[in-house]
Amino acid sequence: MKRDFLAVTDFSKEEIFETFRIAEQLKADVKTGKTHHYFANQTMSMVFAKPSLRTRVSFETGMVQFGGHALYLGPNDISIGKRESVKDIAQVISRYNDWIMARLFKHEHMIEFAKYASVPVINGLTDYNHPCQIMADMLTIHEHRGTVEGQKVVFIGDGNNVCNSFLNFAAVVPYHFVLAAPEGYDPDPETLAKAQAAGLSKVEVIRDPIEAARDADVLYTDVWTSMGQEAERQKRLNDFKGFQINDELLSYAKSDALAMHCLPAHYGEEITEATLDGPHSVVFDEAENRMHAQKAVMVMLANSAGAGIQV
Ligand code: CP
Ligand code: NVA
Repeated sequence: MKRDFLAVTDFSKEEIFETFRIAEQLKADVKTGKTHHYFANQTMSMVFAKPSLRTRVSFETGMVQFGGHALYLGPNDISIGKRESVKDIAQVISRYNDWIMARLFKHEHMIEFAKYASVPVINGLTDYNHPCQIMADMLTIHEHRGTVEGQKVVFIGDGNNVCNSFLNFAAVVPYHFVLAAPEGYDPDPETLAKAQAAGLSKVEVIRDPIEAARDADVLYTDVWTSMGQEAERQKRLNDFKGFQINDELLSYAKSDALAMHCLPAHYGEEITEATLDGPHSVVFDEAENRMHAQKAVMVMLANSAGAGIQV
């Protein structure tokens, strides 16, 4: 049976920690020049309905490092749901490729993709969530602070797709997640309720960024206007005033707090350039870890289907 990775909650806590262990080993292999052609001659279709730098380059490079090859299919190539149905695209690609990575607007389309694909589907972002990002972010926190359990991670800004994945993570691994968002920008209510009901993590949504930032281990932010919300940009610029990570907000966090951002960043909006380039920032470690975390997710999915890869 093939296995997909559509949300962080597809993995158990043990599987998440095993993914981190594998990611760290794969990262060490890359740094020392050790090859690991676990997916030699395998191919991946990367279906993008939205733009990307990190997701595209990290998956494509990761496939080469695995001895395989990835194909980029952009928004104008297949026009999901317009030129062709999700159902047919998923079945056709499954006849050519061993893997599918997709970045789509509607999360329902991602679920439909996985349903009709006979090969593993990895979610590279939807309007609802961004699980690969959160695996990379938590791997980065694990690397820099030795653990993710019990860490106070404070998200300043929009209760968006990235935020929903932090909530999904909170339903599986215990930590302390605080969202500071203006009224009207709360995360998906069902996802928030599930994260709180799981009873593992402390999960809070508050309005005051300074109160949220107090004693934080991590200050995290993302753009105020996500892909697909461009028409709301002006309103959002007004609504999110004050919800910025800068050196002043960092002064309320722990003295060794990490500043994080999934990128792309809009300097002077959700984060200042000085903070992003400053001593607390681990933003480029996060970006790098996208590749190692995703490769580890692939090993986990293959092993669930009986590949028996030993990392
Ligand atoms: N963080 C992230 O997913 O970046 P891209 O949109 O460039 O892939
Ligand atoms: N929330 C952002 C994340 C980009 C990686 C977006 O959806 O555009």
